Amino acid sequence: MLAANDTRPIMFELKESTQALHDQTEHGNFNKELVNGRLPLAQFVESLAQFYLIHRALESQIRSHRPHSPAMSAVVLDYQFQEPYLLNDLAYFGRNCETIHPLPATTDFIARIDAAAAECPVALLGMHYVLEGSNNGSKFIAKAIRRAYNLTDRNGTQYLDPYGDQQREYWQAFKDAMNAQDFSDVERRQIVRAATETFAAVMQLHRELDAGSSPTPQATAPKTGGCPFHR
Ligand code: HEM
Repeated sequence: MLAANDTRPIMFELKESTQALHDQTEHGNFNKELVNGRLPLAQFVESLAQFYLIHRALESQIRSHRPHSPAMSAVVLDYQFQEPYLLNDLAYFGRNCETIHPLPATTDFIARIDAAAAECPVALLGMHYVLEGSNNGSKFIAKAIRRAYNLTDRNGTQYLDPYGDQQREYWQAFKDAMNAQDFSDVERRQIVRAATETFAAVMQLHRELDAGSSPTPQATAPKTGGCPFHR
Protein backbone atom coordinates (compact mmCIF):
# COMPACT_ATOMS: atom_id res chain seq x y z
CA MET A 1 0.00 0.00 0.00
CA LEU A 2 1.37 3.40 -0.96
CA ALA A 3 2.07 5.67 2.00
CA ALA A 4 0.74 9.22 1.92
CA ASN A 5 3.32 11.70 0.60
CA ASP A 6 5.51 8.88 -0.63
CA THR A 7 8.97 10.25 -1.36
CA ARG A 8 10.49 7.13 -2.87
CA PRO A 9 11.28 7.38 -6.59
CA ILE A 10 8.24 6.21 -8.52
CA MET A 11 10.29 3.59 -10.37
CA PHE A 12 11.23 2.02 -7.04
CA GLU A 13 7.57 1.95 -6.08
CA LEU A 14 6.57 0.45 -9.42
CA LYS A 15 9.20 -2.25 -9.31
CA GLU A 16 8.45 -3.18 -5.71
CA SER A 17 4.70 -3.27 -6.22
CA THR A 18 4.82 -5.42 -9.34
CA GLN A 19 7.83 -7.70 -8.76
CA ALA A 20 5.72 -10.72 -7.76
CA LEU A 21 3.45 -10.24 -10.78
CA HIS A 22 6.50 -9.88 -13.01
CA ASP A 23 7.92 -13.16 -11.83
CA GLN A 24 4.56 -14.89 -12.24
CA THR A 25 4.30 -13.57 -15.81
CA GLU A 26 7.88 -14.49 -16.62
CA HIS A 27 7.43 -18.05 -15.38
CA GLY A 28 4.03 -18.60 -16.97
CA ASN A 29 3.67 -21.46 -19.44
CA PHE A 30 3.42 -19.19 -22.48
CA ASN A 31 6.80 -17.59 -21.77
CA LYS A 32 8.32 -20.97 -20.97
CA GLU A 33 7.26 -22.36 -24.33
CA LEU A 34 8.47 -19.19 -26.04
CA VAL A 35 11.88 -19.18 -24.35
CA ASN A 36 12.37 -22.89 -24.98
CA GLY A 37 11.54 -22.46 -28.66
CA ARG A 38 8.61 -24.86 -28.39
CA LEU A 39 5.80 -22.46 -29.27
CA PRO A 40 4.44 -23.15 -32.76
CA LEU A 41 5.26 -20.27 -35.10
CA ALA A 42 1.57 -19.61 -35.78
CA GLN A 43 0.97 -19.00 -32.07
CA PHE A 44 3.95 -16.67 -31.89
CA VAL A 45 2.60 -14.68 -34.84
CA GLU A 46 -0.83 -14.58 -33.23
CA SER A 47 0.74 -13.14 -30.07
CA LEU A 48 2.29 -10.37 -32.19
CA ALA A 49 -1.12 -9.74 -33.77
CA GLN A 50 -2.81 -9.41 -30.38
CA PHE A 51 -0.08 -7.12 -29.03
CA TYR A 52 -0.39 -5.04 -32.18
CA LEU A 53 -4.04 -4.30 -31.33
CA ILE A 54 -3.08 -3.47 -27.74
CA HIS A 55 -0.17 -1.19 -28.60
CA ARG A 56 -2.20 0.53 -31.30
CA ALA A 57 -4.91 1.35 -28.73
CA LEU A 58 -2.49 2.42 -25.98
CA GLU A 59 -0.24 4.47 -28.23
CA SER A 60 -3.13 6.21 -29.90
CA GLN A 61 -4.40 7.30 -26.45
CA ILE A 62 -0.92 8.40 -25.38
CA ARG A 63 -0.48 10.37 -28.61
CA SER A 64 -3.74 12.24 -27.99
CA HIS A 65 -3.07 12.97 -24.30
CA ARG A 66 0.67 13.63 -24.46
CA PRO A 67 0.45 17.24 -25.72
CA HIS A 68 -1.63 18.15 -22.63
CA SER A 69 0.54 16.31 -20.11
CA PRO A 70 4.05 17.57 -19.23
CA ALA A 71 4.81 14.19 -17.59
CA MET A 72 3.79 12.18 -20.63
CA SER A 73 5.66 14.59 -22.92
CA ALA A 74 8.84 14.18 -20.87
CA VAL A 75 8.62 10.39 -20.48
CA VAL A 76 7.20 9.02 -23.72
CA LEU A 77 9.51 9.52 -26.67
CA ASP A 78 8.47 8.51 -30.17
CA TYR A 79 10.91 5.60 -30.46
CA GLN A 80 9.01 3.92 -27.60
CA PHE A 81 5.92 3.48 -29.78
CA GLN A 82 5.90 -0.20 -30.62
CA GLU A 83 3.23 -0.16 -33.31
CA PRO A 84 5.71 0.32 -36.20
CA TYR A 85 7.90 -2.56 -34.99
CA LEU A 86 4.87 -4.83 -34.73
CA LEU A 87 3.71 -3.83 -38.21
CA ASN A 88 7.15 -4.73 -39.59
CA ASP A 89 7.10 -8.13 -37.87
CA LEU A 90 3.55 -8.89 -38.99
CA ALA A 91 4.44 -7.89 -42.55
CA TYR A 92 7.47 -10.17 -42.42
CA PHE A 93 5.27 -13.11 -41.43
CA GLY A 94 2.71 -12.21 -44.10
CA ARG A 95 0.02 -11.55 -41.49
CA ASN A 96 -2.69 -9.23 -42.74
CA CYS A 97 -3.29 -6.84 -39.85
CA GLU A 98 -6.73 -5.90 -41.13
CA THR A 99 -8.06 -9.36 -40.33
CA ILE A 100 -6.93 -9.65 -36.72
CA HIS A 101 -9.76 -10.50 -34.35
CA PRO A 102 -9.10 -9.66 -30.71
CA LEU A 103 -9.08 -12.48 -28.19
CA PRO A 104 -11.34 -11.78 -25.17
CA ALA A 105 -8.25 -10.81 -23.13
CA THR A 106 -7.27 -8.28 -25.79
CA THR A 107 -10.76 -6.78 -25.82
CA ASP A 108 -10.61 -6.42 -22.02
CA PHE A 109 -7.11 -4.98 -22.20
CA ILE A 110 -8.21 -2.32 -24.70
CA ALA A 111 -11.27 -1.51 -22.58
CA ARG A 112 -8.94 -0.90 -19.61
CA ILE A 113 -6.75 1.38 -21.73
CA ASP A 114 -9.74 3.40 -22.89
CA ALA A 115 -11.15 3.60 -19.33
CA ALA A 116 -7.79 4.81 -17.96
CA ALA A 117 -7.55 7.41 -20.74
CA ALA A 118 -11.03 8.68 -19.91
CA GLU A 119 -10.66 8.68 -16.10
CA CYS A 120 -7.01 9.51 -15.43
CA PRO A 121 -4.81 9.81 -18.53
CA VAL A 122 -1.56 9.86 -16.56
CA ALA A 123 -2.33 6.25 -15.55
CA LEU A 124 -1.47 5.33 -19.13
CA LEU A 125 2.15 5.73 -17.99
CA GLY A 126 1.66 2.72 -15.69
CA MET A 127 0.57 0.62 -18.66
CA HIS A 128 3.38 1.96 -20.79
CA TYR A 129 5.86 1.14 -17.98
CA VAL A 130 4.95 -2.55 -18.06
CA LEU A 131 5.20 -2.87 -21.82
CA GLU A 132 8.35 -0.74 -22.13
CA GLY A 133 9.92 -2.65 -19.21
CA SER A 134 9.09 -5.96 -20.86
CA ASN A 135 11.71 -5.15 -23.51
CA ASN A 136 14.33 -6.03 -20.89
CA GLY A 137 13.29 -9.68 -20.93
CA SER A 138 12.00 -9.82 -24.49
CA LYS A 139 15.54 -9.18 -25.72
CA PHE A 140 16.47 -12.65 -24.41
CA ILE A 141 13.31 -14.18 -25.83
CA ALA A 142 14.23 -12.72 -29.25
CA LYS A 143 17.46 -14.74 -29.25
CA ALA A 144 15.55 -17.96 -28.56
CA ILE A 145 12.94 -17.12 -31.17
CA ARG A 146 15.57 -16.46 -33.85
CA ARG A 147 17.08 -19.87 -33.14
CA ALA A 148 13.73 -21.66 -32.98
CA TYR A 149 12.32 -20.30 -36.26
CA ASN A 150 15.63 -19.76 -38.11
CA LEU A 151 15.12 -16.03 -38.33
CA THR A 152 17.98 -13.83 -39.48
CA ASP A 153 18.91 -10.31 -38.43
CA ARG A 154 15.93 -8.50 -36.91
CA ASN A 155 13.38 -10.13 -39.22
CA GLY A 156 10.24 -10.94 -37.25
CA THR A 157 11.77 -9.91 -33.90
CA GLN A 158 11.74 -6.12 -34.01
CA TYR A 159 9.00 -5.99 -31.38
CA LEU A 160 10.86 -8.34 -29.02
CA ASP A 161 14.14 -6.50 -29.43
CA PRO A 162 13.31 -2.99 -30.65
CA TYR A 163 16.38 -1.18 -29.32
CA GLY A 164 19.20 -3.67 -29.90
CA ASP A 165 22.42 -2.52 -28.23
CA GLN A 166 20.69 0.58 -26.86
CA GLN A 167 18.28 -1.40 -24.63
CA ARG A 168 20.10 -0.59 -21.36
CA GLU A 169 20.60 3.06 -22.23
CA TYR A 170 16.95 3.54 -23.27
CA TRP A 171 15.65 1.76 -20.17
CA GLN A 172 17.81 3.96 -17.95
CA ALA A 173 16.54 7.07 -19.78
CA PHE A 174 12.94 5.92 -19.24
CA LYS A 175 13.55 5.35 -15.51
CA ASP A 176 15.29 8.72 -15.11
CA ALA A 177 12.46 10.53 -16.91
CA MET A 178 9.80 8.84 -14.75
CA ASN A 179 11.69 9.60 -11.53
CA ALA A 180 12.07 13.24 -12.51
CA GLN A 181 8.29 13.79 -12.62
CA ASP A 182 6.50 15.44 -9.74
CA PHE A 183 3.49 13.12 -9.58
CA SER A 184 0.87 13.78 -6.94
CA ASP A 185 0.03 10.95 -4.53
CA VAL A 186 -3.21 10.34 -6.40
CA GLU A 187 -1.37 10.13 -9.71
CA ARG A 188 1.19 7.73 -8.24
CA ARG A 189 -1.58 5.48 -6.97
CA GLN A 190 -3.26 5.50 -10.38
CA ILE A 191 0.00 4.73 -12.19
CA VAL A 192 0.89 1.85 -9.85
CA ARG A 193 -2.65 0.47 -10.05
CA ALA A 194 -2.59 0.64 -13.85
CA ALA A 195 0.76 -1.20 -13.90
CA THR A 196 -0.60 -3.93 -11.64
CA GLU A 197 -3.69 -4.32 -13.82
CA THR A 198 -1.53 -4.42 -16.92
CA PHE A 199 0.50 -7.36 -15.62
CA ALA A 200 -2.77 -9.16 -14.89
CA ALA A 201 -4.03 -8.33 -18.39
CA VAL A 202 -0.82 -9.62 -20.01
CA MET A 203 -1.06 -12.84 -17.99
CA GLN A 204 -4.65 -13.36 -19.09
CA LEU A 205 -3.64 -12.83 -22.72
CA HIS A 206 -0.76 -15.29 -22.31
CA ARG A 207 -3.19 -17.86 -20.89
CA GLU A 208 -5.52 -17.46 -23.86
CA LEU A 209 -2.65 -17.60 -26.35
CA ASP A 210 -1.28 -20.65 -24.57
CA ALA A 211 -4.65 -22.35 -24.85
CA GLY A 212 -4.38 -21.73 -28.60
CA SER A 213 -7.79 -20.15 -28.60
CA SER A 214 -7.07 -17.91 -31.57
CA PRO A 215 -10.22 -16.94 -33.47
CA THR A 216 -8.22 -15.77 -36.48
CA PRO A 217 -6.44 -17.46 -39.38
CA GLN A 218 -2.74 -17.74 -38.60
CA ALA A 219 0.47 -17.52 -40.55
CA THR A 220 2.61 -20.63 -40.86
CA ALA A 221 5.77 -19.47 -42.57
CA PRO A 222 7.68 -16.22 -42.90
CA LYS A 223 7.39 -14.28 -46.14
CA THR A 224 7.74 -10.68 -47.13
CA GLY A 225 4.97 -8.14 -47.68
CA GLY A 226 1.36 -8.81 -46.74
CA CYS A 227 0.49 -5.98 -44.40
CA PRO A 228 -1.40 -3.15 -46.07
CA PHE A 229 -0.16 -0.65 -43.49
CA HIS A 230 3.47 -1.41 -44.15
CA ARG A 231 5.55 -0.05 -47.08
C1 HEM B 1 11.22 -14.70 -20.19
C2 HEM B 1 10.59 -13.65 -19.78
C3 HEM B 1 11.21 -12.49 -19.06
C4 HEM B 1 12.47 -12.31 -18.59
C5 HEM B 1 13.66 -13.24 -18.68
C6 HEM B 1 12.52 -11.00 -17.98
C7 HEM B 1 13.62 -10.43 -17.43
C8 HEM B 1 13.72 -9.17 -16.93
C9 HEM B 1 14.92 -8.56 -16.39
C10 HEM B 1 16.28 -9.25 -16.31
C11 HEM B 1 14.60 -7.32 -15.99
C12 HEM B 1 15.53 -6.34 -15.26
C13 HEM B 1 16.12 -5.33 -16.21
C14 HEM B 1 16.94 -4.28 -15.48
O1 HEM B 1 16.43 -3.64 -14.55
O2 HEM B 1 18.11 -4.11 -15.83
C15 HEM B 1 13.20 -7.13 -16.29
C16 HEM B 1 12.52 -5.99 -16.02
C17 HEM B 1 11.19 -5.80 -16.33
N1 HEM B 1 10.36 -6.68 -16.98
FE1 HEM B 1 10.79 -8.55 -17.47
N2 HEM B 1 11.29 -10.42 -18.09
C18 HEM B 1 10.47 -11.29 -18.75
C19 HEM B 1 9.15 -11.11 -19.07
C20 HEM B 1 8.47 -9.96 -18.84
C21 HEM B 1 7.11 -9.74 -19.21
C22 HEM B 1 6.23 -10.75 -19.95
C23 HEM B 1 6.78 -8.50 -18.80
C24 HEM B 1 5.49 -7.73 -18.91
C25 HEM B 1 4.57 -7.94 -19.77
C26 HEM B 1 7.94 -7.93 -18.17
C27 HEM B 1 8.01 -6.66 -17.63
C28 HEM B 1 9.12 -6.11 -17.05
C29 HEM B 1 9.17 -4.82 -16.44
C30 HEM B 1 8.00 -3.83 -16.31
C31 HEM B 1 10.46 -4.63 -15.99
C32 HEM B 1 11.00 -3.41 -15.26
C33 HEM B 1 11.10 -3.67 -13.77
C34 HEM B 1 11.66 -2.43 -13.10
O3 HEM B 1 12.88 -2.31 -12.99
O4 HEM B 1 10.85 -1.57 -12.71
N3 HEM B 1 8.94 -8.85 -18.22
N4 HEM B 1 12.70 -8.27 -16.86
